[in-house]
Order: sequence, then structure tokens, then C-alpha cells
Amino acid sequence: MSEERKHDDPTLTTRQGHPISDNQNTRTVGPRGPATLENYQFLEKISHFDRERIPERVVHARGFVAYGEFEATEKWGDEPISTYTRAKLFQEAGKKTDVAIRFSTVIGGRDSSEVARDPRGFAVKFYTEDGNWDLVGNNLGVFFIRDAIKFPDVIHSLKPDPITFRQDPARIYDFMSQSPESMHMLVNLFSPRGIPADYRHMQGFGVNTYRWVNSAGESHLVKYHWLPRQGVKSLTEEDAANIQAHDTGHASKDLYEAIENGDYPKWDLVVQMMSDDDHPELDFDPLDDTKTWPEEVFPPKLVGTMTLNRNIDDHHNENEQISFGTGVLVDGLEFSDDKMLVGRTFSYSDTQRYRVGANYLQLPVNSAKNATVATNQRGGTMSYGVDLQGQNPHVNYEPSTMRGLRESEPTGEKDVGPELSGRLTRSEIPRTNDYMQAGQRFRLMEEWERDDLVKNFIDNIGEATREVQERMVWHLLMCEDELGLRVGEGLGITPDDVRHLEPLPKQQLTDAERERLANLG
Ligand code: HEM
Repeated sequence: MSEERKHDDPTLTTRQGHPISDNQNTRTVGPRGPATLENYQFLEKISHFDRERIPERVVHARGFVAYGEFEATEKWGDEPISTYTRAKLFQEAGKKTDVAIRFSTVIGGRDSSEVARDPRGFAVKFYTEDGNWDLVGNNLGVFFIRDAIKFPDVIHSLKPDPITFRQDPARIYDFMSQSPESMHMLVNLFSPRGIPADYRHMQGFGVNTYRWVNSAGESHLVKYHWLPRQGVKSLTEEDAANIQAHDTGHASKDLYEAIENGDYPKWDLVVQMMSDDDHPELDFDPLDDTKTWPEEVFPPKLVGTMTLNRNIDDHHNENEQISFGTGVLVDGLEFSDDKMLVGRTFSYSDTQRYRVGANYLQLPVNSAKNATVATNQRGGTMSYGVDLQGQNPHVNYEPSTMRGLRESEPTGEKDVGPELSGRLTRSEIPRTNDYMQAGQRFRLMEEWERDDLVKNFIDNIGEATREVQERMVWHLLMCEDELGLRVGEGLGITPDDVRHLEPLPKQQLTDAERERLANLG
């Protein structure tokens, strides 16, 4: 900005700083003549417009971002949190860390409806003094699959048909009927919880299993949960249809207005923990994201509270370009060997380098604003400044004797986690136990929730082929008699119709499941 221009000067200019005196008329030869091509003002305006969109996210395209702060309790329940993790953001009572959150739907495009029956994304970026930490979760606590290699398939089945471009329950249930690990997620998704009332009234879950590491290098497995102080509310399909008739963005509106009105929403962060081993005593694998950890055995304990108190200034800059990833962790918080988590960790930054660009981490919303960033990364599209922290600008390599960036002092970091060994293999984890928690979840539902789930299953599975319907009734009978019988009744399928079905190829059954199969229905 030139020195003569005042900060509040409203004069419109080009990006080159040229004042614009006519923004209504293209330059032409005479009032009715042809347009000329040297008209920089017009060319800059229209060609910038032509490039206004970046690719939308391949999943979670529609979302809404807000900012706030996380306040730590310094405890895990009643115990000092340092017993379990050395992550700095948790260490002092009342310590505040800036956060950005993006809530989202998964399957629809960038302008799709926010009342869709769909999982909701719940992604939180903590701008800590040790660099950024992203906790990228959902509102349902579990997921459809447990191995990242199946992610493109599950998403293709849920996305619109490649020809008709319609989301098609026949395709969805075709895939799910061949993937029994999806039953727990489906029982959640097709219950009332599958359409949260808005973003303020839903829970969030990290879903995957992570590790906490303390200063002695000891590790524990953990799962994260966000509990809304506003309570949890859901919509029936009828409520959802009524909202959608006049608003496809009600959840963004609700959150934006609450924050504008000073009615700041809050979530408590609670953490479940278990020792870092494979827990042979459990009937599920702690690294399986289709399972929840029973709260009576692994009680969730408070570690802090998040308050959202500021809206974004620009949708594109702060929502379209914000980039989360499961690999973005700080000292004291670690991965586990959860096979989804490792696949996710590659996928997020890979897609962001394509979707936003090689230098996506230089954007203000993504940069580690509360930590010092010092890299030898140079160049690439839209590179913006260097982060040498006053070191010799000729040196963009390491090691160097000429005042370049240097490795930090040894952190005293110790090797973490149990010792592992094994042959390279492609095999499912043991203890798949695909039906048990789906059945438990159904039994925990209130009567009206069961009715809603059964109706939604009948309506949707009813669009699939007879073969798929029968396999789905078989799975639901394996989860829980009442669920299988009622959905079967709605579809005109009895246990006798499906008793002859063999387990799917590659499907593992527990002894209890074999017994169930022998007495189906
Ligand atoms: C977004 C991949 C599983 C939650 C995304 C994106 C990709 C992706 C490519 C788009 C990111 C972007 O463009 O910035 C995967 C893969 C998975 C997986 C490969 C499994 C192997 C999950 C699970 C959850 C989840 C289990 C929930 C716990 C999210 C959320 C977003 C997202 C919340 C949106 C982030 C945002 O708001 O920008 N995922 N995902 N994903 N995923 Fe996943």
C-alpha cells in the first residue's frame, strides 16, 4: 500500500495497486464496439475469478470452522497428568492453548445439505508451543472399516453412483453386506444419532487409538472423547426434511450465530486409557477402530475443556484451506499401530499437497503459530517467505559450518511402546468380533431409537438386491435377534430364508458367533 493511501481509504484497486475508476464497463472500441485485450483490469478480475475454487476435499467437503481455546486441568481425573503424558499443553491447571475446529459432513459436496444422514467430522487443531497437534475425529466413536486399504472402497460405495451420480443405498449395502466390520457403525449411523441436530449438540471422538508417553518414556494406549456441555441432540428424518426444505446450512448458521451472540459452546475432553499391550483378556483388539472401550472398565477422565469464541474472517482462507492430519502430533502424544491410523496419516498430507498446494503449511491457518518454525524447505508454488530464524540465508542445507540451522540438543527421547517382531503378512487382526458391540449398542437404545433404526434399515436395505438384503438380515441376526427379526420382517425375510448362508470368505467367527450362527434367530 502506498504511503499516501490511508488504511481506511476505500478506493478499489487491482492487485497491482492501480485505482479502479470504472468497475461497471469493459473497455471497448466505441460504446458498442469490440472489447480490447490490453484491458489489464478486466483480465485480472476475470482470470482471478476463473481460479477462485480449489479442489474440494475428497471427503468432508462441507464444513464450518471456528476458533477458541483449550484449558487444561493438569490432571487425568484425580491423578497428575504428567504420570501419563509429558505433552506440554496438558501440564498446568488453567493453561490455555489456541484451537481451530472444523466440523463437517462426509459424503456430500461443498454445498451439500447439513442434515444428511452421515457421520460428522470433528477436527481440532491445537496451536501448542511445541508445534501443532491435530485431533481428527468423528461424532459416532467408531468407523466402518478397520484397515486403511479399504477406505477408497467404503467411500466409493457411499459417494454417488459414477453414472447416475445419486447416492444409492443398493451400492452402499452391497459393500457393507460384504464387510461385517461395518455393522457397529451402521447401527449408529442409521439410528437417530446419524443426524445430529447441529454441530453444537454433538459429541466428538478421536476414534483411533493413540499413545501417551511420559517423561520416563513409558507409554499407555488412549482414546479421546469430546462431550458437549450443551448436551446431545439429534433429528428424526422428518425434522431433517423440514429443515432442509428451507436451509441446507443450518448447522453452520447455528454455530456462527451462537458465537456472534457470545453464547460460546464448550466441550470437555475426556480420555480413556489402558496399558500399552495387546490385552488378550479383552474380546476385541484395542487397535480396532470399529470398537469402543467399555467405560466401566476404562473410565473416561477429564483432562480439559474447549471453548469456541471466535468466528472466521473468510470461508476460503480459513475453511477451504485449513488442513488437518492424524500425523500432526506433539511430544508426549504418539501414534499406535492401529492400521487405520497409519493409512490416514499418509492420506491427509498427501491430499493437502494436491488440494491446497505444496506450501499449505505456510498459510496462517495451518502454520504452527505458537511455536518457532525453522526449516530448509524452499520453493514450490506460492512459497511465501523463508523461516531461517536469522541464520545465514545462503545455507539451506544441514549440517553446515556456516551458521545454518542445526539439530536440537538431544531430547533424551527413549524408545517407546512394546517390542514388536513378526513376518511380513497380509492378515486381519485377531478378535474381529464384528457383531458383539453392534448388538450391545442396539440393546442400549431407547424404544423410539430402536424403532427409528429398524425403519431406516428397512427403507434403505430395501433398495438393495434380494441377495444383499438376505445377507444384511443374516448379519443383523448375528448382532441381535430383535434387530434381525424386525428388519427381516419389514423386508419379508425370515431366519429360515438365510440360515443356509455360509460366513463370508475370509470372515473370522468367534466361538460365540459360531454358536449364534447354529441357532440363528
Ligand atoms: C478428511 C482420508 C478415516 C475423519 C479426510 C480427507 C482424507 C481422508 C483424504 C480429506 C482431507 C483434506 O482434504 O484436507 C481418510 C482415510 C481414512 C480416514 C484414508 C481411513 C484410512 C477417517 C476416520 C475419521 C476421519 C476413521 C474419524 C475418526 C476425518 C475428518 C476429516 C477427514 C474429520 C475432515 C477434516 C477437515 O475438516 O478438514 N479423511 N480418512 N477420517 N477425515 Fe478422514
